[in-house]
Amino acid sequence: MSMKERIQEKFRTLYGRDGDVFASAGRINLIGEHTDYNGGYVFPGAIDKGIMAEIALNGTEKVRAFSLDYDEYVEFGLQEEDKPEQAWARYIFGVCRETIKRGGKVAGFDTVFAGDVPLGAGLSSSAALESTFAFAINELNANGIDKFELAKIGQSTEHNYCGVKCGIMDQFASCFGKAGCLIRLNCKTLEYKYFPFNPEAAGYKLVLLDSCVKHELASSAYNKRRASCENAAAAIRKNHPDVEFLSDAKRVWLEEVRTEIPEEDFLRAEYVIGEVQRVLDVCDALERGDYETAGEMMYQTHFGMSRLYEVSCEELDFLNKLARKMDVSGSRVMGGGFGGCTINLVKKELYQPFVDAAVEQFTEKFGHAPKVYDVVISDGARKLD
Ligand code: GLA
Repeated sequence: MSMKERIQEKFRTLYGRDGDVFASAGRINLIGEHTDYNGGYVFPGAIDKGIMAEIALNGTEKVRAFSLDYDEYVEFGLQEEDKPEQAWARYIFGVCRETIKRGGKVAGFDTVFAGDVPLGAGLSSSAALESTFAFAINELNANGIDKFELAKIGQSTEHNYCGVKCGIMDQFASCFGKAGCLIRLNCKTLEYKYFPFNPEAAGYKLVLLDSCVKHELASSAYNKRRASCENAAAAIRKNHPDVEFLSDAKRVWLEEVRTEIPEEDFLRAEYVIGEVQRVLDVCDALERGDYETAGEMMYQTHFGMSRLYEVSCEELDFLNKLARKMDVSGSRVMGGGFGGCTINLVKKELYQPFVDAAVEQFTEKFGHAPKVYDVVISDGARKLD
C-alpha cells in the first residue's frame, strides 16, 4: 500500500468519511547555510520526500489528529492553553495558533498524516509538517493567506512553540519548491529566483549521506550561534549604521571590531560573511555549467561550518574528508548541522565507488552504516488529486 492509501484507510476507520489530501516536502540546500537569519542568501530546493496529510473539517472547535508514524492519537483545542504534550502535535497546534494570530480562521478538523522524510537528518521534516498544515488550513478555511505568510506561520511555530529561533529557509523551500529547480532566496528582501538544476544532464549526481547522528542540544546550540551573529552585527553597526543584518557587513568591517567582541563571535561572523558571497558565486558557476567550481565552494562551506561555525561533528568531517580523498566534486555538512547529512555532488562514474567506500569505511570506524539518499528536486506544498 502506498503512503496515501495507508493514510486514507486510517482516516476512514477513525472518522468514517473522506477528506482532502495535502502534501509538502523536505528540502536540500546546495549552499548558503546559517545565512537566512543573517539576512543573506540561501539556495534550497524541495525534495521528493515529505509529509502527507488527509484533513476534513469536523464541525467542532477541536483538532483530532493521528500520526501514522508514531501510531498515536491526540485531541486538542485551539486556545493558547490547549497546547498538546506530544512534540509532533505541537507543530500542528503551533500552525493553528499562528494562523489565528494573523487573523485567519481555523475551524476544528480531523486529520491523519504520515511522512517519508527522515527525522533529524537535516532535511527539514518539521518544516514539511508545518507547511502541509499551514497550506491545508489556509485552503479549508478559505483564508487567502499568501505563500510567504504561510512560510512565516511555519517559522513562527518553530520560534513560539518548538524553541528553535530558525530562519525562513526551510519553510520557504517547502512552500515554494518547484520540480527541477533550486531557489535562490534573498532572506532580507525576500526576492527569489528559480534556477533550473539538472546535474544529471551535466554528468553529475547529488547524494546525501546521513551520519545518523542526532545532537541532543541542537536547538540551544543553534540559538547560541544566532545570538553570536547578532552580537557581531550590533558591534559593526556602531561604525556602520546601515548594517541591519550581518550579511550587510564587509569582511573589513568585521575586522574593525575584532577586539571588541568575543573570539567565538568573530569566527561565527567570519563564516557567515564568506558564506553569503559563496551562494552568489555558486549561482554564477551553475549558470556557466561549471559544476566543479560549485563543488569547490561546497568544500569551503564545510571547512567554515566545521572550523569557524563549529556545527559539524567527527562523523560528518570523516565523510567530507573521504569525499575529498576520492575526488568527489563537492561535499559539505547540510542544514543546521550537529549531525545529519553531508550533501555530495559527485560525477556519475564515481557515484557507486564513493557510496560503497563511504558505507564500508564509515561502518568500520563508527560501528553503524550511514544511510544513503538519492534526492529528486520536486514540488512543495500542494493539494493532491
Ligand atoms: C536549520 C534552520 C534554517 C537554517 C539552517 C541552516 O535548518 O531551520 O532556518 O538556519 O538550519 O542554514
